[in-house]
Amino acid sequence: MPLHIDKGLAGTVAADTALSYIDGAHGVLEYAGYDIDSLARNSTFEESTWLLWNGRLPTSVELAEFSAALRAEYALDPTLVDLVCRIPRTAAPMDALRTSISAMAHFDLEADDSSKEANARKSLRLVAKTPALIAIFDRYRKGKPIVAPDASLSVAGNFLWMLTGARPTEAMARALDVCLVLHADHGLNASTFAARVTIATQSDMYSAATTAVGTLKGPLHGGANQEVMEMLLEIGELSRVDEYLKGKFARKERIMGFGHRVYKAYDPRATYLKTFAQQVASDTGNQRLYAMSRRIEEIVLAQPNIVEKGIFPNVDFYSATTYYSLGLDLDLFTCMFAASRMSGWTAHCIEQLAANKLIRPHADYTGPHGMAYLPIAERAAGSTSRSCPSVKQAMSVAAGSN
Ligand code: CMC
Repeated sequence: MPLHIDKGLAGTVAADTALSYIDGAHGVLEYAGYDIDSLARNSTFEESTWLLWNGRLPTSVELAEFSAALRAEYALDPTLVDLVCRIPRTAAPMDALRTSISAMAHFDLEADDSSKEANARKSLRLVAKTPALIAIFDRYRKGKPIVAPDASLSVAGNFLWMLTGARPTEAMARALDVCLVLHADHGLNASTFAARVTIATQSDMYSAATTAVGTLKGPLHGGANQEVMEMLLEIGELSRVDEYLKGKFARKERIMGFGHRVYKAYDPRATYLKTFAQQVASDTGNQRLYAMSRRIEEIVLAQPNIVEKGIFPNVDFYSATTYYSLGLDLDLFTCMFAASRMSGWTAHCIEQLAANKLIRPHADYTGPHGMAYLPIAERAAGSTSRSCPSVKQAMSVAAGSN
């Protein structure tokens, strides 16, 4: 088979999917044929999840049954709660979530049952319990009592309830719900690809979900929303935006929340969020942050070559201010992305298994060949080749960091 190198796999099609469609050149995203804008306006996270899992919109009876089944899974085994509350309080919530999702498998008797039915039930559990795991860790790390789930609330509403211990207003629950709808699936993004690689080995749903959370964490993927907010807080004032960006451009640094591997036009999720975030910011008295975001967008898009390179705000740019306006701590932002994308990850795992093939690309070997093996006593100490530091170098760096 002829091989070609495709760094970052940007030009490689590695799976068939009927879940979401992206036209990056024209800024289109659809879930199972439904435009993201119409879903954000009209649907809910529960309904969009049903859509992704079933390929069509549910009837009212189907949606009611699905919501009831999902809500019945909000509760966590007390030993799992105890386990989450043994993670060091200083851990980053995304790291705690990765551990918690992995630990969930120990409390599921079906963890290694890879039948389609069992995988569907595990998907339901993963989507229902992920927000609870995030809220529980946050309350525990702040020394606050754990709040039991409320099955009368939507996924978004229940999360806010378990996080704050207060009934969320309808507007707050809806704002979070819209973010969950917008993040639920996105083609073969890095974390979804990672989940598919894991499940393709015939591993299990929890392993795939754990892989995905670890992959989402990076600032080039899901971690960007937190960095957007850190940037806004660092800038602080509308009057400082221009000067701040001047410095960023001079240092040739990337502006977080801009650019996308697939979209070379405006990210359609950002199109919707831009207007939505303005409303949420104004309802919650955060207009200053919103005005700063708009100014950043204006300046970035006016830079030479930026629009030519297809760089526009992405979903993380305006979701950051939305999460902040809802009162979420910055380090929970990426966790919310995970809570939403869990519906896409699980859907992709099930889709992968329906026509499975081990995902195993090649690497182009760039090292030497035909090296003679020398007995250890005859080897001279040399400088370390490649990017790996020697043990000595690594240890001295570690000692210096103490
Ligand atoms: N600010 C300034 N320049 C940028 C940015 C940015 N945010 N993103 C890309 N570029 C430039 C980059 O410097 C390069 O320029 P040149 O060709 O002159 O060297 C060109 O655009 C192409 O960049 P690339 O890194 O080759 O493109 P990519 O497709 O590999 O990167 C990306 C996509 C998302 C990693 C990148 O745009 C980026 O780092 N953005 C900032 C992080 C971010 O917001 N990530 C969230 C993505 S959306 C959420 C999700 O779906 O995960």
